[in-house]
Amino acid sequence: MKYLSELLTDEVSAAFKEAGYREEAGKVSVSNRPDLCEFQCNGAMSLAREYHKAPIKIAEEVAQILSNSKIFSEVNAAAPGFLNMKLSGDYLKDYLACMTAPDYGLKKESSEKIIMDYGGPNVAKPLHIGHLRSAIIGESIKRMGKITGNEVLADIHMGDWGLQMGLIIHELSLRKGDLCYFDPSYDGEYPEEAPFTLSELEEIYPTASKKSKETDGEGNETPEAKEYKEAALLATKELQDGRRGYRALWEHIMKISVADLKANYEKLDVSFDIWKGESDADKYIAPMVENMKEKGLAHESRGALVVDIEEEDDTKEVPPCMILKSDGAALYTTTDLGTLVQRQEDYRPDRIIYVVDKRQGLHFEQVFRCAKKTGIIPKDTRLDFLGFGTMNGPDGGPFKTREGGVMRLESLIKEVNEEMLKKMKESDHDLNPAEEKEAAAIVAMAAIKYGDLSNQATKDYIFDIDKFTSFEGNTGPYILYTVVRIKSILRKYTEQGGDIKDARLSAPKTDDEKALMNKLAMFNSMMDNAFKELAPHRVCAFIYEVANDFNRFYHSTKILTEENETRQKGWIALLVFTKGILETCLDVLGMKAPEKM
Ligand code: ARG
Repeated sequence: MKYLSELLTDEVSAAFKEAGYREEAGKVSVSNRPDLCEFQCNGAMSLAREYHKAPIKIAEEVAQILSNSKIFSEVNAAAPGFLNMKLSGDYLKDYLACMTAPDYGLKKESSEKIIMDYGGPNVAKPLHIGHLRSAIIGESIKRMGKITGNEVLADIHMGDWGLQMGLIIHELSLRKGDLCYFDPSYDGEYPEEAPFTLSELEEIYPTASKKSKETDGEGNETPEAKEYKEAALLATKELQDGRRGYRALWEHIMKISVADLKANYEKLDVSFDIWKGESDADKYIAPMVENMKEKGLAHESRGALVVDIEEEDDTKEVPPCMILKSDGAALYTTTDLGTLVQRQEDYRPDRIIYVVDKRQGLHFEQVFRCAKKTGIIPKDTRLDFLGFGTMNGPDGGPFKTREGGVMRLESLIKEVNEEMLKKMKESDHDLNPAEEKEAAAIVAMAAIKYGDLSNQATKDYIFDIDKFTSFEGNTGPYILYTVVRIKSILRKYTEQGGDIKDARLSAPKTDDEKALMNKLAMFNSMMDNAFKELAPHRVCAFIYEVANDFNRFYHSTKILTEENETRQKGWIALLVFTKGILETCLDVLGMKAPEKM
């Protein structure tokens, strides 16, 4: 179905044409003076010169024609040449009635195959809050892509091939050097069971990392640290070269970590279709490099292998893309290029969207240019980088624990959970302690996600627990509370013997009701635009407005005690509709409302 603004534009354009003007002038938008009108058209202003006529005269002629329109209840020409319009209540009601679940009038015109790369956790290292943004924003964009009609595949792209693996292997060799994994002459089967547990693994990596970075009083690397790091680098190289025992240890680390990662992402309600990682790119690298050399695109520069990627209209310098270091080792860039080879081979996507820290912007610029130049990815495949800003603490610096360390994701969630529970205990509801705890966890998750998503992704933002968990203002809990309020009215209506199923929308009787209906009618075009802009914050802004409009309507309307049954039914239908739109948007943002709170 057409979007409301398109239908209105069609109507007004036809009126311009009928009056003898260019129809392009008929573009209608939502009014920026809601006190005067609901929709506006400024087209008459642009025609004055061409037709040698005062814009107000043109606007008056068009308004005259539109006075017979079935779509508008009111059209006025206002100085110096605006057209101010109000929608017919019946037309509005009919439009909303055509917006049906599950996608409420979305056109679904685009049906691209899209791969999304987000998450990017580093195996065996704890998830920290940097990974939170990628997960939350990425998941939301994936859902937006799906609801607007695309086929979207999410790839977690784990960091599972780097130095952290060598560090763990080396530390393990110091602790349990007599295990068969370290015996190069061992050629039997390796044990099924890992020689460590998850909690040991969680301790081994930070210990090893610390040992490799130890410094003396002057901040210089100690000889022990140097030796330790060299051993870890060697272990990494041997692992990558396929040393059997190390490979087996790696498999153990992966198995244990992936199970833990899955559990953690599940708690966030974030899911991936593809659980590949940097290690999976490995086998594509050698042939890819060969190919680049054959085509004469990769050349040596100071011992390293590079591809030049600068373009004629560059305003800033884009350094060559390094493919292999002088010792022949692959880099982060190489891994991402190898992954593109694999994605092209396996999926032939129309588009790939990366959701990663914006400080990696240059890296992706290099990867994208190199992939296009070397033909890994066809020229017309879209490669997008959505770089997000930093999550800061109340002091404006990067978010830290109270002790000043890097905040682990689990601790953050725990802290917000506690704060939310505290606030719920202060509010009045009829939940027992267990239900209250469950609801608090759901609302806390929304507080975190909404706090993040309501900001433009590219910007840094301040993570303010007190603000994010508030039931008032532009917060997750406020939105959820609005949904819970609707659920509660609908429950009471049913308890009074009302039947929700036979409620039908009716034309609005009050301004508050109409404002809400007008807002809801914008859902479909809003969602389309939000995905075009890769902007979950647009969805947040929309539901915040819907929630405000709903609450205004709720406070001015006695729904449950209304005696005129048709009237009441219309409102009940509007409640069901509002709830549907809010829940659909919440789902796109990765949140849900509890039954009560
Ligand atoms: N593991 C990386 C990190 O923690 C993020 C990976 C992002 N995705 C990618 N294709 N490079 O910084």
